[in-house]
Amino acid sequence: MFVGEGPGADEDASGLPFVGKAGQLLNNMIAAMGLKREEVYIANIVKCRPPGNRTPEFIEATTCSQFLVRQIDIVHPEVIVALGATAATYLLGVKQSLASLRGQWHSVRGAKVAVTYHPAFLLRDPRQKAEAWKDLQRVMAEMHLVAPKRP
Ligand code: URA
Repeated sequence: MFVGEGPGADEDASGLPFVGKAGQLLNNMIAAMGLKREEVYIANIVKCRPPGNRTPEFIEATTCSQFLVRQIDIVHPEVIVALGATAATYLLGVKQSLASLRGQWHSVRGAKVAVTYHPAFLLRDPRQKAEAWKDLQRVMAEMHLVAPKRP
């Protein structure tokens, strides 16, 4: 299961998570892990697009958290990947830097949680993609996933 921040304009229009540019990169990340998008569940911290696409506020995230908790309990994922600081903060209930949360396993409602960069951040700073790939490789090792051979 992947958890992002909240719908953007493209997601609001389609009603689906991660369908815009960041979604295309997330699709590539999922494929690089040897998975299909149909094999993973994608959710967001907030369920409505905050005005002007700003970061969700505490009250918005905590209002929506009951829905995310239900999603996690129904999907019962082995591993959750928190995408970016907002997802990590509200999923884990801690306010720490992304750097301090990456590289270790956390636990939420019976699922192991890994933290990595948000795809939208990686689009702005592609040099961090190698670091994100390290995070995903740790997830793959935990789940015994093998990266597909490059054509
Ligand atoms: N960014 C997110 O965090 N979630 C989406 O669904 C799309 C973009």
